[in-house]
Amino acid sequence: MDSKINKLNNRIALAHLGGGQARIDKQHAKKKLTARERIDYLLDEGSFEEIGMLVTHRTTDFGMEKEIYFGDGVVTGYGTVNSRLVYIYAQDFTVFGGALSETHAEKICKIMDLAVKVGAPIIGLNDSGGARIQEGVRSLGGYADIFYRNVQASGVVPQISAIMGPCAGGAVYSPAMTDFTLMVENTSYMFVTGPNVVKTVTNESVTSEELGGAFTHASKSGVAHKTSANDIECLEDLKKLLSYLPQNNKETPQKLSFQLEDEIREVLSKIVPDNANKPYDMHDVIKGIIDEDSFYEIHKDYAENIIVGFSRIAGRSIGIIANQPMFLAGVLDVNSSKKAARFTRFCDCFNIPLLVLVDVPGFLPGTDQEWNGIIVHGAKLLYALSEATVPRVTVITRKAYGGAYDVMNSKHIGADFNFAWPTAEIAVMGAKGAAEIIFKKEIQEADDSTAKWKEKETEYADKFADPYRAARRGFIDEVILPEDTRKKLIKAFSMLENKVVDKPNRKHGNIPL
Ligand code: COA
Repeated sequence: MDSKINKLNNRIALAHLGGGQARIDKQHAKKKLTARERIDYLLDEGSFEEIGMLVTHRTTDFGMEKEIYFGDGVVTGYGTVNSRLVYIYAQDFTVFGGALSETHAEKICKIMDLAVKVGAPIIGLNDSGGARIQEGVRSLGGYADIFYRNVQASGVVPQISAIMGPCAGGAVYSPAMTDFTLMVENTSYMFVTGPNVVKTVTNESVTSEELGGAFTHASKSGVAHKTSANDIECLEDLKKLLSYLPQNNKETPQKLSFQLEDEIREVLSKIVPDNANKPYDMHDVIKGIIDEDSFYEIHKDYAENIIVGFSRIAGRSIGIIANQPMFLAGVLDVNSSKKAARFTRFCDCFNIPLLVLVDVPGFLPGTDQEWNGIIVHGAKLLYALSEATVPRVTVITRKAYGGAYDVMNSKHIGADFNFAWPTAEIAVMGAKGAAEIIFKKEIQEADDSTAKWKEKETEYADKFADPYRAARRGFIDEVILPEDTRKKLIKAFSMLENKVVDKPNRKHGNIPL
């Protein structure tokens, strides 16, 4: 008996050593934690149950039968984060550089299947040299098995990827199909082809960091939703993100207990400047509305003219989409439309109510935008909001001009409650441009055309640059004092809690992609 127990203990010890102490030391020297250390840090103490610790690869080519490591380069299993069940896999860079073999993929697929059956989030900690080169197409098949499951699980359980090392080639497509991709600064990168291939094909010289580092993907491509300074911060970010999400698409997010007090926020009445062309920081409005320190921003450095993120209002998890007048005056453009559409669809999948804060002068004009398809990309946001059945509340703080008024969660596309501040200007366009078009002849014929223009601008502004025409038509449900906004929203989201929308039976809609 003792020898049999020793045999087991021996295997467990070997599995825990991964690719061996020398490679673990190398991993630490790069300021990276090992796969097991990452899992230990992320999950509640003692909650991890490993699945498939003794799995080994089946390859015999290139002398691989002599290189056997228990676990085969990925640690998989389940555990809890803040007492809530999650399924997790962490690639072990110390074993063949975390490269994905057929059996490595099978282990990942096994926990993905369990997660969907049970209804709990899937977390992938990626740190891998890509397809296991010694295995060829079997390893590529393994990737496809994972991709297929990513798609089947999409909208059923939340899927989160943390990129904590290399992630290149086909490997990038699993994170891309999950809901959120977090990246660690300086130690992670993602690209379809690396700098050497880029040099050969396009003759561009670029470093890994420039091509696909955390900064690049957080600010230029939008592939990364959040970046962190190191492994520990990344895992903390991941824990926080999970706290806003439900376990699956049949549940609603956890509501934290909350004691209602005086919910008037005077600070909100001092944010919008008198001059309609002066910017202000929409983060201040968000801060004035939400529960203290509860904003978790997504895509902070990408398409900064729109802000998206999770938050809480009276303990309830909500998603916020807000135009940001500080960047490009808060216009909608290609990237901001894509950013907000993707976020909207995530919230709708997982029963997270949406708050939309509007200060939008319209869509960004120009050849760059038109040639890059602003029509289709703007339509994404319009489509995503129109199809969302979660509770949807809008607050117009200032401008709501043109087609962008419609897009930004207007009553007409199914918003449940539309508030406006007295500073709201709901019109086809700004008064200056409007006067120039409809009073063109009068302005041209006037002795002092500039004075005439000014006069007509004022006339148009007096007539349309307020929320009252919209309120008269019921397009705005209530014009509210800014300081009352939090109080009103707490009531509105509470009132909408049991909203149900029955949709007609169809395979799926055809969102403009
Ligand atoms: N398949 C099999 N083994 C791999 C591998 C792969 N795709 N990628 C890395 N490894 C192994 C290396 O042989 C090395 O093994 P060793 O510990 O026995 O020496 C170990 O993983 C670590 O790799 P190393 O190159 O020393 O690490 P690094 O930090 O210097 O570089 C990479 C990491 C990922 C940049 C580099 O390993 C690489 O370019 N790998 C190939 C990437 C690729 O083309 N993948 C296939 C297409 S998806």
